[in-house]
Amino acid sequence: MHTPQAISNFSGGPGALAPIVLQKASQALLALPETGISVLGMSHRSDWFRQLLDQAENNIRTLLDVPSHYHVLFLQGGGSLQFNMIAMNFARGQGTRADYLQTGYWSAKAVDAVRAQTQVHLAWNGANSGYARLPKSEEMSWSARPSYVHYVDNETVEGLEFNRVAGLVDAPLMCDMSSNLMSRPVDVSAYDLIYAHAQKNLGPAGVTVVIVKDDLVQTANAGLPAVLDYRTHIKARSIYNTPPVFAIYVLKEVTQWLLDDVGGLEKMAAINQQKSQLLYRTLDELSDFYKPHAQREDRSRMNCTFDLVNQKLLKQWLTQAQDQQLWGLEGHRSLGGIRASLYNAVSLQDVQKLSQFLKNFAQENA
Ligand SMILES: Cc1ncc(COP(=O)(O)O)c(C=O)c1O
Repeated sequence: MHTPQAISNFSGGPGALAPIVLQKASQALLALPETGISVLGMSHRSDWFRQLLDQAENNIRTLLDVPSHYHVLFLQGGGSLQFNMIAMNFARGQGTRADYLQTGYWSAKAVDAVRAQTQVHLAWNGANSGYARLPKSEEMSWSARPSYVHYVDNETVEGLEFNRVAGLVDAPLMCDMSSNLMSRPVDVSAYDLIYAHAQKNLGPAGVTVVIVKDDLVQTANAGLPAVLDYRTHIKARSIYNTPPVFAIYVLKEVTQWLLDDVGGLEKMAAINQQKSQLLYRTLDELSDFYKPHAQREDRSRMNCTFDLVNQKLLKQWLTQAQDQQLWGLEGHRSLGGIRASLYNAVSLQDVQKLSQFLKNFAQENA
């Protein structure tokens, strides 16, 4: 038997959750303290669940300082459904192009997903440079009047993260923050729609948070199937059909942990900065041995991707890491190498352990 506390979980997603959240979730599976009933058997039409949803929404509004003319929705279908819903609601049939920044694996997936629904213009495409960097503002070329602009704030696979709001043109701005929402403060008012699936920094897979400006929603296409129309979910206050009750329960506990234990997103951001700086510094100091994937200024604080200079040692590295309770470090299948995901619930101590292992392994195999 492994003791969960002894294992450092660097999984790319679903990712680690804070031990206190896991404790509350396991208690809730047996019986919720307030009702005596398992969370898995609670009706989504109960007062208890309405209060839970309201609390989860309030926590998100407080943490991100969400302006009142934005809706906060809890949907299903993950990031992949959002790729499609955005095009269905705001581009299909309009005869205009939707502009995308193609900066990595997930933004390329978003582009593939919407081609059947709208013409797409790539304002920048990093495929030829192996998705090792992000574009500078002057490298982006926008359409004259795009239906909207879409980009991925943090490319989970390659480990690239924007440090600014990208895509500032006179068009609605849509942003996939699946792998970095809640890791730092965000200026929500700079965007028209932000979405993030839960399984990185918000909770378990199954729920997706959408933060959408009311003005934008009013412009959505008519005639959509109800379940794919944002207005349906706004009207039903996220209970149009049965929502993922357990995932929302855990999300509420995660946001409570961020508020009460961590002390908000400024504090979370400072911890995340410390963690990623330590790891990148270690890699840079051992540059004869390790090769980071991302260009320095675009390095992600959430997903640190690198390889061994001597790739023949990769299998051994991964096995030894796992033996030392460092889990989830294998790179995404499309890129290979190593990926250490440093989501909110990964502690500085976890990263210190990894950093020590990086040094020891390099020394032993020099
Ligand atoms: C940035 C990003 N966007 C979208 C997705 C796809 O999300 P889902 O698997 O929830 O459909 C992922 C998956 O990891 C992701 O990392």
